[in-house]
Amino acid sequence: MATVSQIEIKDLAFAIEGKEILHGLTLSLAERRVGIVGRNGSGKSTFARVVSGLVAPTSGSVTVNGHDLAKDRRAAIREVGILFQNPEHQIIFPTVGEEIAFGLEQQGLSKADAAQETQAVLDQFGLSHWKEAHIATLSQGQKHLVCLMAISAMKPKLLVLDEPFAGLDIPTKAQMNRYLSLYEGSLLHITHDPADLEGYDHVVWIDQGTLRQAGSRPEVMNAYLAAMHSLGEDDDIAYLSR
Ligand SMILES: Nc1ncnc2c1ncn2[C@@H]1O[C@H](COP(=O)(O)OP(=O)(O)O)[C@@H](O)[C@H]1O
Ligand SMILES: [Mg+2]
Repeated sequence: MATVSQIEIKDLAFAIEGKEILHGLTLSLAERRVGIVGRNGSGKSTFARVVSGLVAPTSGSVTVNGHDLAKDRRAAIREVGILFQNPEHQIIFPTVGEEIAFGLEQQGLSKADAAQETQAVLDQFGLSHWKEAHIATLSQGQKHLVCLMAISAMKPKLLVLDEPFAGLDIPTKAQMNRYLSLYEGSLLHITHDPADLEGYDHVVWIDQGTLRQAGSRPEVMNAYLAAMHSLGEDDDIAYLSR
């Protein structure tokens, strides 16, 4: 049965070394497919890390399905999985099979059960021949796919995707999209490509660390794309030398 995660964010601020990266963010999300858009440096990746409980807010609160994930790491492992922008930040083990099995063992599965689940997820992706493959020998796109398999094997209720398709070739991207469209849990998907959000219920636009707009996909995407195109047409690049 499909489950929908509830994300409650109240007056969230997040600062590093005195620099405020996110501020004044209040947002309630209860849609199964949520897209996040925004310019480079607007705070999307930081937002993904805060929602996943990898870092605690400086002030305000974030809960997923009622849990404060930064404080409750056991709940975090069950509730949320995050696919980082850079697979190198995610991968720990030398082989594909070990990488997938690790997350499952973290969730408390025995070695035997973890091995069985690892096989199941490899079969589901049609990649059982990858089990013994050394991750270091894979391409960037293939590494992304390994991370997706490892995270989805853990079946988190909410899957946070931080530009998961960056650098993927067309067939790999299509394969990942197909898989994600079948994912039973909720998706929070950061992307620059409007095509990735086909069929999404809701879009959140983050701008300079704060919430610019949240609402239905057509409404927010139209406003966002109009703003981005007008910025693109502006030939003043003086800000680059600031
Ligand atoms: N660990 C960090 N230390 C200092 N500044 C950071 C750190 N992480 C992110 N930032 C800054 O916060 C801003 C938002 O970054 P990020 O969340 O990666 O944005 P996005 O994913 O939208 O491109 C950027 O200006 C970035 O330089
Ligand atoms: Mg980012």
